[in-house]
Amino acid sequence: MPHSKLSGKLVHEATKHSYLSVQMNPNYVDASTQPRAFKVYPQFYRRLQLNSNNSTHAFIKLTSTITFEKIYKNVPYQLRVNPSAGALYPTEVYIQIRDVDGFINGIYHLEIENNCLTLIYELGDDGLESYILPNNRINGFIFLVSSVYHRSSWKYQDRSIRYCFLDSGHHLGSIAASAYLHEKNIKLIFDFDKLSLNADLGFENKEFISSCVISGEVQAKPVRRLRLSIPFVCGTDYFQVNQFVEDAYKATSMQPSHQQKLDHPQFNFHRQRFLENVWNRRSIRRFQKQSISQEIYWRIWENIHKPIPTENIEEIEIYAVVHRVEGIIPGIYNGRNLIQSGEFPEKTGYLCINQALAKDCAVTLFFVSDYKNYQTALQLAGFIGQRVYLFSNYWGIDCSGIGAFYDDEAQEFLRTNKDVLYVMAIGK
Ligand SMILES: Cc1cc2nc3c(=O)[nH]c(=O)nc-3n(C[C@H](O)[C@H](O)[C@H](O)COP(=O)(O)O)c2cc1C
Repeated sequence: MPHSKLSGKLVHEATKHSYLSVQMNPNYVDASTQPRAFKVYPQFYRRLQLNSNNSTHAFIKLTSTITFEKIYKNVPYQLRVNPSAGALYPTEVYIQIRDVDGFINGIYHLEIENNCLTLIYELGDDGLESYILPNNRINGFIFLVSSVYHRSSWKYQDRSIRYCFLDSGHHLGSIAASAYLHEKNIKLIFDFDKLSLNADLGFENKEFISSCVISGEVQAKPVRRLRLSIPFVCGTDYFQVNQFVEDAYKATSMQPSHQQKLDHPQFNFHRQRFLENVWNRRSIRRFQKQSISQEIYWRIWENIHKPIPTENIEEIEIYAVVHRVEGIIPGIYNGRNLIQSGEFPEKTGYLCINQALAKDCAVTLFFVSDYKNYQTALQLAGFIGQRVYLFSNYWGIDCSGIGAFYDDEAQEFLRTNKDVLYVMAIGK
C-alpha cells in the first residue's frame, strides 16, 4: 500500500502479533548475519574525542554510551545506557552545536563505538533550525534521533517499525536523563520537516529521523536550510529494503500530534546515585516472584507521570496488572482505579507470548493510547519506558521492556478500545 494511503492505525493493525501469526512466523534469524550496530563516517572527517572530565563532553557521552561489555558464545555484546528491542540498537544521534565554547559550529555524528564526535558539517548562515523551528536560531544543542531501520527489520520485519520508534523514545529518555544530571533544560520536538531533513543529511531510504531535542537559548533570527547536502554513509555493513517500514515511516511523519503547553518536570533524585543508576541500568532476565513495597511502587508511579517537556504530545494511559505489591489487591488497574480484582500472572505471561518475565514480575504495565500521530505516541511510550527503567532501578526494583505481545487479546483483556503500544514488567 503506498504511504499516502497508510495511517498510524493501519500501520499498527498491519504489525499486530496474534497466537497464529507468531506460530507461523517466529522470527528465527541466523545471528551471524546481524547487520552492524555502529555507524562510522569515513576517516577523513575531523573527530573530537569525548573527555569525561569536560562537563559538556560528559553530557553528550552519557546520552548514548556503552555501559557493559560481554562475550557470549564468542559474540561480543556491547550494551548501552539505552535499552533496545533484541539489543539491535537501530538508533543514531546527531548533534548540532552552535556557540558553545570549545566546539566548531557544526553538525556532529555521535560515534558511540569510539566515544567521539565526528564533524560532518560546518555551519555558516544555515542550520537545522530551519527544518525544526523556522525563523529561530538555537545557541546550544540540537539532538536528532534517527533509526537505521535495517538493524531491526533484519529480525523483526514489519513490526520493527514499532521497535524503531520505541527505541527512539528510550534514547530520548537517555538524553533527558543526561540533561537532568548536567542541569540542562530540554524540549522534545516531534512535529517538524523530517522528510526534507533526511534528504539533506544524505540518509537516502536507509535511515530516518524520528525526533529532536533542543537545549539552549532560542533567538528569533532566521537561519537558512543546509546549503550543501551531506554524502550518504550506510549505518550498516549491508542493507535489505523493507518497503512497508519505509512507507510506514513516511505515513506517520506527516500527521501533526496533539498539542499541549510546555511544562518541565522537577525531580529530587540524589545526583550521584542517579548517575550511578544510569550507568548500571539493565534489563532483568528473570524475576523471582517476590513482592515489592507499596510505597516504592507509588513513588515510581508518581515520578513516571511527571510532565514531559514537549508541546507535541500523545496521551499514554497506563494499565497496571498488579500481581505482587504489598497491601494492594491483585487485579487490573487503570491508573489507580481497580477495574477487576483477581490473579492474572498466567494471563499476562501468555499475552506477552509466554514470556515468564510478564508472569513472575510484581506488576505488568500496559501502555495504551488513542493517538493522532502514531510515531509520536510510540516514542512517548518509549520515553516513559526509560523513566520506568531508571526510576525502578533507582529504588532497587528490576525492570524489562516487552515489545512482543498478542495485540488484540491484550486489548480485550484490558477492555479498552485504545491500541496497546508497549508492555513493561517491574519486580524483584
Ligand atoms: C522496545 C523494547 C522491547 C523489548 N522487548 C523485550 C521482550 O519482549 N522480551 C525481553 O526479554 N526483553 C525485551 N527488551 C529488553 C532488551 O532485550 C534489552 O534492552 C537488550 O537486550 C539490552 O539489554 P539492557 O537493557 O540490559 O541494556 C525490550 C527492550 C526494548 C527497548
